[in-house]
Amino acid sequence: MRGRRPILRTAEGAVEIIDQTELPHRGVIARLDGLEDAAEAIETMRVRGAPLIGATAAYGVALAMRREASDAALEAACARLIRTRPTAVNLAWALDEMRARLTALPIEARAEAAMRAADAIAEDDVAICSAIGDHGLSIFREILTRKPAGATLNVLTHCNAGRLACVEWGTATAPIYKAFAAGLPIHVWVDETRPRNQGASLTSWELGERGVPHTVVPDNAGGHLMQHGLVDVVVVGTDRTTARGDVCNKIGTYLKALAAHDTGVPFYVALPSPTIDFRLGDGVAEIPIEERAGEEVSHMRGATEDGRIETVRIVPEGARVANYGFDVTPARLITGLITERGVVKADRASLVSAFPEAARAAGLTVVG
Ligand code: MRU
Repeated sequence: MRGRRPILRTAEGAVEIIDQTELPHRGVIARLDGLEDAAEAIETMRVRGAPLIGATAAYGVALAMRREASDAALEAACARLIRTRPTAVNLAWALDEMRARLTALPIEARAEAAMRAADAIAEDDVAICSAIGDHGLSIFREILTRKPAGATLNVLTHCNAGRLACVEWGTATAPIYKAFAAGLPIHVWVDETRPRNQGASLTSWELGERGVPHTVVPDNAGGHLMQHGLVDVVVVGTDRTTARGDVCNKIGTYLKALAAHDTGVPFYVALPSPTIDFRLGDGVAEIPIEERAGEEVSHMRGATEDGRIETVRIVPEGARVANYGFDVTPARLITGLITERGVVKADRASLVSAFPEAARAAGLTVVG
């Protein structure tokens, strides 16, 4: 399991995933044998995180093309996959990419081309995240120059925007891994991230795998830590960023941004370009927010002292619960967007100037 990609194509051509619903207690590898397996893996969050959802959807199309590669089969595969989760725009982006790369090809060439296209989407994600890591590392170095010599850089992150949410590196974790490898003194505050505990279960697991010093804190602790000077910088991921720089990420991100704003702590978002949705402006009004099953709130899963995995109810029987998966942080609360092309201000002009081709493809008028 160590260092293994959360999705990979084996030498025999099978597509395998790490089943993230089993972490951190068990390392389980699952094989995706067809479109339905890929769709189910996204729906049930065996794979999750915006870039990994995109890569899995691409492999889902490729697996469908192995069975039948007609136009109708391609459209049916895309229609099935787009229904799996509504918020991360990487899903629609990956399906559009696959359509664009396949529709012009003769049907008999599509199965092979689809696998290669999915591999390319996965490899592009690795390169994008690595570049985000380099740009984020520069920010970390700069912040450290303002601290006493030998002081530790304290980074706070929410959810899992790590290597498990991508293909490698992660987005928010890429600068962390690069800083750790470069020998910078670094410590990460990991928000547990209720209700599914992606921080406690996944971020802690992957940081631990690489030996990065970290501490898991309840979601409510961030404001207190920031008030007491215990956080130098917040770095989070994103599931969809609008043209004007509003960022949708795991529920609770907005509260961290508010606390960071109030305490003067820089708040950065690690943003791979496929996560930008240039068609949207006002994130709060326009981004579809996933609502998931109430059991994720009312129940908790964990390991007992003797190693059994059990699920227990933590609310009174029959209590009403609500489970919103994401929230939107307005651009005004964001210090900068760390993209593969550098650190960009969270506003329309800066995003368009950094990614003019994507803005144009979304129908925006781009001058120059
Ligand atoms: O519901 P999840 O676990 O898919 O949500 C994931 C997040 O919110 C991540 O922060 C986001 O996808 C960025 S991943 C690099």
